[in-house]
Amino acid sequence: MTVKKCLFPVAGLGTRFLPVTKELAKEMLPLVNRPIISYGVEEALASGCENIVMITGRAKHSIENYFDRSFELEDILKKRGKLELYYKMIHISEMADVIYIRQHEPLGLGHAVLCGEPVCKGEYFGVILPDDVFVGAEPVLSQLVKVHERLGGSVIALERVSDEDVSRYGIASGEEVEPGIFKLDGMVEKPKLADAPSHYAIMGRYVLSPEIVPLLHKQQAGAGGEIQLTDAIRELVKSEPVWGVVYQGRRFDCGTQKGWLSANIQLALEDEELRDVVIRIVTGK
Ligand code: G1P
Repeated sequence: MTVKKCLFPVAGLGTRFLPVTKELAKEMLPLVNRPIISYGVEEALASGCENIVMITGRAKHSIENYFDRSFELEDILKKRGKLELYYKMIHISEMADVIYIRQHEPLGLGHAVLCGEPVCKGEYFGVILPDDVFVGAEPVLSQLVKVHERLGGSVIALERVSDEDVSRYGIASGEEVEPGIFKLDGMVEKPKLADAPSHYAIMGRYVLSPEIVPLLHKQQAGAGGEIQLTDAIRELVKSEPVWGVVYQGRRFDCGTQKGWLSANIQLALEDEELRDVVIRIVTGK
């Protein structure tokens, strides 16, 4: 049982980044030296996925163009002898087999996942929310796929969060059956702290059973008036195992301006070529 397809819901308007996102897809904002979206795509490929399925929307052409050939640019780079860059550009367009599906209305994450039905029907599939960028020894999606292959069923990534962050996430509850692995029995989307079933937040990585699709079809609008993936997974828990895995690695929340900025600074500090310049600017020395 492997996971060959990975959905990327990228139709969101990116309002937190306006006015930049008036024209540019937020997934194309740079994280050090490449777009945010490329981190998620590389993670999916490194986890064994073969098809990347972008659930996209208006004003997201830059994502499609990024993963496509750019003959004019390639031609110029080649003529100017910039061969390293030339091969790098070709590699980006060849690294992934990307399928694009339009989500016509922003009806929520659950609805976005449902848009992938024609491609993912009848098989387990991955979901990556590219705002959450993970860095670590083993890709987080791969950690989930391994649990799926060993125990069957669906798997979602969890992180223990503080009181003040509980209401920003889907919060899951369950019994810890192995260190860091929970058999989930419930979850709530963005609860108030008083209503939260635990402090384990759902992070943007999922391996989902095909049985999620009929549940999403039945799903009514939930938190924020949107069709919530969390609500459908809570239904799935009643009929199939859903595991929560406390992932290993570091997460960078690139979905907010502050998170994106601090991710850039932290990762630049770890980059041999950029480290000195960041230290000089920040310390004034
Ligand atoms: C989504 C999910 C939520 C999850 C979060 C992780 O929320 O609905 O359950 O905890 O991603 O980033 P969003 O951030 O899209 O509002």
